[in-house]
Amino acid sequence: MGTDTKGLFTAIDINGVTLRNRLAVAPMTRVSATEEGAATEIMARYYERFAHGGFGLLITEGIYTDQAFSQGYLHQPGITDEAQAQAWRPVVDAAHQHGARIFAQLMHAGAISQGNRFRNTTIGPSAVQPKGQQMEFYYGKGAYRTPAAITEEQIAEAVEGFAASAARAVAAGFDGIEIHGANGYLIDQFLTDYANQRSDRWGGDTRQRTAFVRTVFEAVRAKVGSSVPVGVRISQGKVNDFTHKWAGREQDAKAIFGTLAEAGISYIHVTEHKAWEPAFDGSQDSLVALARRYAPQVPLIANGGVQDRAQAQEVLAVGAQIVALGKAALANPDFPNRIQAAQELAGFDQAILGPIANIKPTELAA
Ligand SMILES: Cc1cc2nc3c(=O)[nH]c(=O)nc-3n(C[C@H](O)[C@H](O)[C@H](O)COP(=O)(O)O)c2cc1C
Repeated sequence: MGTDTKGLFTAIDINGVTLRNRLAVAPMTRVSATEEGAATEIMARYYERFAHGGFGLLITEGIYTDQAFSQGYLHQPGITDEAQAQAWRPVVDAAHQHGARIFAQLMHAGAISQGNRFRNTTIGPSAVQPKGQQMEFYYGKGAYRTPAAITEEQIAEAVEGFAASAARAVAAGFDGIEIHGANGYLIDQFLTDYANQRSDRWGGDTRQRTAFVRTVFEAVRAKVGSSVPVGVRISQGKVNDFTHKWAGREQDAKAIFGTLAEAGISYIHVTEHKAWEPAFDGSQDSLVALARRYAPQVPLIANGGVQDRAQAQEVLAVGAQIVALGKAALANPDFPNRIQAAQELAGFDQAILGPIANIKPTELAA
């Protein structure tokens, strides 16, 4: 305690949007929307707590983007039509009332969709059964289904879903867009060697496998214009393959981060188990350091394993501009206020996510 926290509490500008500090809430799916995918009052009161607790930026849970194959979980919120978009307004207003900014995370589940009220089948880059098991705390059970290889028409539909959803999010008052390119979902499936076995323009070596994320970003950017922050989240690990590492190591980091920088992304959000640790066995550099190296001008959000002020500062020290907190934010929705006042932090209690990961009554603003 008593360490200088100035770095964490300085404002920062992302593509013209000012955040009051460097502490963000990481995106967390809480399956608390209506069956029809509308955000609820409970969600507004849940997000409000983080804003009231001092976070500069709230990144929403992954929001599905079309009425075809994007939905991943039952009770996941969507932003696929006007009714769903309007339902986000109280969430956005609650964040703004307390001085926070809020970015919408747009997500297409692809091959690891385990609950979709619009479709009974799944699609992925190639017909490869996903590793791992469906998540029971999101109403899933057993192995994932083997997806059909996505067609050109379905790719166009998915891209348009991201773009149209981004436009609806901006109209609903969101301050920015985060494209979910991480954690095993559709965009990450395209980036991943074993999930993407295509030999057309969407597959090939690592740089070629970035075609889909680039296309999604360009479509979103074209739709929302230059004044809206549009970032992307990137990881090695996946919800269905925790320990996955990029086979091409630093060369893959160069291909992915370099491509995003060239495309003009507003920020990159990297997530690892421990954000500050080396990305690959036998090397020194964290994913944060590699993103810094290959996308040097791009603001960087880093997430993973941060539990206290010292670790948050460590993440800034290794090259990120913003630290995103998941479990530590669930345990301490007022993490920024607490560390500023040198108050003790609570430990994370896994029980909050069980048996279903929905928002619990103890997590709501008064
Ligand atoms: C309940 C829960 C739901 C999550 N949902 C999402 C999500 O919707 N989108 C996403 O990008 N990451 C999601 N994550 C991953 C977190 O954003 C974060 O990467 C992870 O919790 C590790 O960070 P931490 O150590 O600070 O908790 C989720 C994590 C948890 C615990």
